[in-house]
Amino acid sequence: MEEPVVVQKAPYVMKTEPRKYAWCACGLSQGQPFCDGAHKGTGFSPIIEEITVERNVAWCGCKLSKTKPFCDGSHAEL
Ligand code: FES
Repeated sequence: MEEPVVVQKAPYVMKTEPRKYAWCACGLSQGQPFCDGAHKGTGFSPIIEEITVERNVAWCGCKLSKTKPFCDGSHAEL
């Protein structure tokens, strides 16, 4: 199985408005942590997540979380 690119060993913590988001799973997007279509030709596709209330979200930045698209602390093991 293909491995995603580790973009950073920390989450992207940001205030996030309610709407649907496409989280980048491959690590190739230039607009992290979200998909920009760069996964084309890889085995990856984005994870669609709907945020229903404005809140701070810790989006996974290492792409290895077991609770994608959210950070679960997996980056600490890199
Ligand atoms: S650019 Fe990474 S999943 Fe789309």
